[in-house]
Amino acid sequence: MKPVKVGLLGLGTVGTGVVRIVEGHQEDLSSQVGSPIIIEKIAVKNSDKTRSINVDKDKLTEDPWEVICDPEIDVIVEVMGGIDHTKEYILEALERGKHIVTANKDLMALHGSEILAKAQEKQCDVFYEASVAGGIPIIRTLIEGFSSDRILKIMGIVNGTTNFILTKMSQEGASYEAVLEEAQRLGYAEADPTSDVEGLDAARKMAILGTLGFRTNVELKDVSVRGISQVSKEDIMYAKNLGYEMKLLGIAEREDDHVSIGVQPTMVRKGHPIASVNGVFNAVYVYGEAVGETMFYGAGAGEMPTATSVVADLVAVIKNLKLGVNGLKAIVPYKAKKLKSDDQISFKNFILLHVDDKAGVLARITQVFAEFDVSLESVVQHPNELNPEAEIIIVTHNATKASMDKVLQHFEGLEVIRKIKSVYRVEG
Ligand code: NDP
Ligand code: HSE
Repeated sequence: MKPVKVGLLGLGTVGTGVVRIVEGHQEDLSSQVGSPIIIEKIAVKNSDKTRSINVDKDKLTEDPWEVICDPEIDVIVEVMGGIDHTKEYILEALERGKHIVTANKDLMALHGSEILAKAQEKQCDVFYEASVAGGIPIIRTLIEGFSSDRILKIMGIVNGTTNFILTKMSQEGASYEAVLEEAQRLGYAEADPTSDVEGLDAARKMAILGTLGFRTNVELKDVSVRGISQVSKEDIMYAKNLGYEMKLLGIAEREDDHVSIGVQPTMVRKGHPIASVNGVFNAVYVYGEAVGETMFYGAGAGEMPTATSVVADLVAVIKNLKLGVNGLKAIVPYKAKKLKSDDQISFKNFILLHVDDKAGVLARITQVFAEFDVSLESVVQHPNELNPEAEIIIVTHNATKASMDKVLQHFEGLEVIRKIKSVYRVEG
């Protein structure tokens, strides 16, 4: 049995896990694919760096082109991250007929369609299971498990770092900064954690899930994004007191083939399955027209969970190699994209206002909601004994985004409102 030779780009958190699994599970893997799997060459930035695993120094190179251009290598596993130069490596590898496995959501969200088109032209596989929700096999599930259904909603906690931060803030009262540092130390956060906390990482993953789930080309610019950096411990406590958990949620919805996709901190009703997903865990809730509710749960980041998905893709590529069917499974979105307008997107809202504590204030505020046809589920007022300010907490019924934007615009100019303290989407 001729061994299958793999070139690895990157030996950081994920790359290290890939080496551990390929070496540690070699017998199982080779019996599944019918030949040994050998990691032939590994590109790193600094080949003198101390590593947590033993690797043959001769396999290391600081020049990724040495890996890409090696004619012995059949499959490239890209776990180095980055966008422009990485795209160049991958396109060249495809040009040379090599199959690709990548964990790079940044690359796939931005250039996935170009890369997949090249793969199809060259009859190569490009698999990217680890790019969304780490160890959860959600991409294969959307492509294969839901092939017979029409997906209407995908709701995901798809960023482990922010879920880890929100959970620790909620359960331990920990500070945002300290938990972010811990997430970085544990290898969950991106090289630049801004993309985690500002929601960009989740938005990229939702663009990938939206494209696969709705069979239309969802681009990053189609995803509205708000991260967690402005979420305070106070907001989390208000959510808890009202029976909600604060989560950074990606929500993709489809109605009559019009889609909307957004990532935002969301108050999720306790009792909804996604509300109990804590720590670095991710979950993707999928609602299909025929199947109804489903949910997929697991570790969303970290060395071994992510490497599990990467190596599973590697196995899939090699099985296809043996069958001679590489490049036949690419999902090319075929539906014309129709985005929902703000008049078509509707959800419940939580609003926390600081207002003058005097007669008639509540009436002025509820009048604005009525003017824009926003119906209210509950209104609670807390007096503040220390100053003449009161807090008003409002939860709306489903309201269109367009109407809510008008209400909030109106509030900006309303003299009885001292501050619009917080506004969150509510789910469940
Ligand atoms: P790390 O920063 O831990 O590792 C990156 C690796 O790539 C390092 O080994 C580094 O070399 C190498 N590298 C970086 N730039 C170059 C370059 N220009 N030339 C050669 N080698 C280079 O990243 P992660 O392992 O955390 O992430 C890798 C990818 O997987 C990213 O796309 C990330 O978004 C994705 N991902 C990560 C998850 C996680 O939990 N960490 C989960 C899911 C996806 P050196 O070691 O010498 O510095
Ligand atoms: N930084 C990402 C996260 C890694 O925290 O989810 C997994 O994609």
